[in-house]
Amino acid sequence: MPNIVEADQLVKQYPGSPEPSVRGLSFAIQQGEIFGFLGPNGAGKTTTISMLSCLLKPTEGSATIAGFDLIHQSSNVKRQIGLVPQDLALYPTLSARDNLSFFGRVYGLKGSELRQRVKDALEMVGLFDRANDAVETFSGGMKRRVNIAAGLLHNPQVLFLDEPTVGVDPQSRNFIFENVEALNRDGLTVLYTTHYMEEAQRLCGRVAIIDQGQIIALDTPKALIESLGGGIIHLGVPPEMPKSLVSEVEHLPDVQHVTHTDGKLGITAQHAQRTLVSVIKVFNDADVSITSLEILEPNLETVFLHLTGKRLRN
Ligand SMILES: Nc1ncnc2c1ncn2[C@@H]1O[C@H](COP(=O)(O)OP(=O)(O)OP(=O)(O)O)[C@@H](O)[C@H]1O
Ligand SMILES: [Mg+2]
Repeated sequence: MPNIVEADQLVKQYPGSPEPSVRGLSFAIQQGEIFGFLGPNGAGKTTTISMLSCLLKPTEGSATIAGFDLIHQSSNVKRQIGLVPQDLALYPTLSARDNLSFFGRVYGLKGSELRQRVKDALEMVGLFDRANDAVETFSGGMKRRVNIAAGLLHNPQVLFLDEPTVGVDPQSRNFIFENVEALNRDGLTVLYTTHYMEEAQRLCGRVAIIDQGQIIALDTPKALIESLGGGIIHLGVPPEMPKSLVSEVEHLPDVQHVTHTDGKLGITAQHAQRTLVSVIKVFNDADVSITSLEILEPNLETVFLHLTGKRLRN
């Protein structure tokens, strides 16, 4: 499949900021893909999406969408993309239909075409039967879906969804997932940002893990998880623990990597559960106590932890 989005060394430094918020992002999204941006608060996800939607001018770098240059062909770019922003922007007292008609006019739609597109968009997000109800009577998840419908009105090729499930109940969340999957099956390319690793893992063909304005890993969720090896064991250990124990643990079969900082031992192993038994034996034989114990299953959260030393969510 050809690339529909290509970003080359995008940089954004906000005026007055001492440092750039996005620091040289390069990636390509293939047509028909659900591509994920996974990263913690402040990673630069919204800033990147805002640049790709022509709302923010990059400080450096370039990008194309469906072959159109972001900076020199921005009106073409805007026709190709639908943006569903992180913050809801709906008129509470207006019906879903009237909200969408308003957004459709902003996109330059009118008359029977506008009416048809509003109907189609409402159907796509499963809200056609609530079309005439005021948005203020909707649940958080339903409002989100109206927001998604607004991004679909002009029939874009690529949809940018910026954390569409924040503040949404589990049922609506599932409904949003199903909507996104159905739209994708019909050929829509999706850029999906989230700081929930479960969402990236479930929805996205490939995921770029972003931290501090940089992509620190990019691959299929499966490959990212496999790159970790197995799981990670976290052991609390006494500060005066003999160093020789660390190297003994390092030399256990299955152990791939050991870190030792501030009374904590992080052990990456092919089979975390099985390795734990041998680790505990090492400590017992040396008569050193273990103060805490945690096994982290291999998932995208653990990948992030492994790459950055931080958790995705605090
Ligand atoms: N208008 C602005 N002016 C100055 N700095 C900004 C502005 N918008 C964002 N930033 C900074 O840029 C960095 C990236 O922010 P951004 O909103 O892109 O992150 P994010 O990954 O979308 O985070 P979140 O998950 O919280 O939405 C942050 O440090 C933020 O404080
Ligand atoms: Mg954001």
